[in-house]
Amino acid sequence: MAEFKLPANSIVGKGQYFSEPNPEGTNKIKKVIIYRYDPEKNKRPRTDTYEIDLNQCGSMVLDVLLKIKNEVDSTLAFRRSCREGICGSCAMNINGGNTLACTQSIADIEGDLHLYPLPHQPVIKDLVADLTHFYAQYASIEPWMKTDSPTASDTERLQSKQDREKLDGLYECILCACCSTSCPSYWWNSERYLGPAALLNAARWINDSRDEAVGERLDGLEDPFKLYRCHTIMNCTEACPKGLNPAKAIINIKQLMIKRKY
Ligand code: SF4
Ligand code: SF4
Ligand code: FES
Repeated sequence: MAEFKLPANSIVGKGQYFSEPNPEGTNKIKKVIIYRYDPEKNKRPRTDTYEIDLNQCGSMVLDVLLKIKNEVDSTLAFRRSCREGICGSCAMNINGGNTLACTQSIADIEGDLHLYPLPHQPVIKDLVADLTHFYAQYASIEPWMKTDSPTASDTERLQSKQDREKLDGLYECILCACCSTSCPSYWWNSERYLGPAALLNAARWINDSRDEAVGERLDGLEDPFKLYRCHTIMNCTEACPKGLNPAKAIINIKQLMIKRKY
């Protein structure tokens, strides 16, 4: 294995990293403050501060994290995979808002960069939130097509172009959890309230013309907490890095609930 060497222009202190001024004076320094927590160390969470020369780094927040992990502190933990806004794994709280590190441009962030894990979730380590409960809630809405009618052996289940368009704004969810973890109702009732991500995905199946279990799906959501804890605060819609509107999807489900009663 190649010997790890810090870059020539770096100094590492206790929880701090600074790029030294380079001779040409072309540094573009950004101060990066990162939440650190390692449950195995049995110590209280802290923040570490790094100063990164943006002239030696890619343009996204994820590039800063990779630079720190690769060149400064390999113990820093965060999730990432696709680095292009598709997998949802790099979701975190960046300067007070939940979004994807890989699609958040550093140039759009004024002042210091503050990185925290998604709020109100248990922390596994550093920027890695434990989303076990979030995924279980997603599974609870049974996110697959349910049918009773026999499947034809020679054709797929088709739907009209118009019916397909009803899924636009719903099927694109990448389950990053930015919406649910910015929802105050979810913070206080996440044990029982499904939250905007699971409900948007419920709407995705409820509105699919090929699904034959709409009544069953609505029955499953008819509960004072699962659906009705949404108070249309709209944080979810503001947070979604894919430009989706979970609040509208929740209103759609509530309207369908009313419609079937009257
Ligand atoms: S609109 Fe509903 S789901 Fe979205 S943040 Fe507000 S309470 Fe939460
Ligand atoms: S609705 Fe948007 S913010 Fe919420 S999980 Fe899906 S992609 Fe992420
Ligand atoms: S790394 Fe996949 S969404 Fe950011």
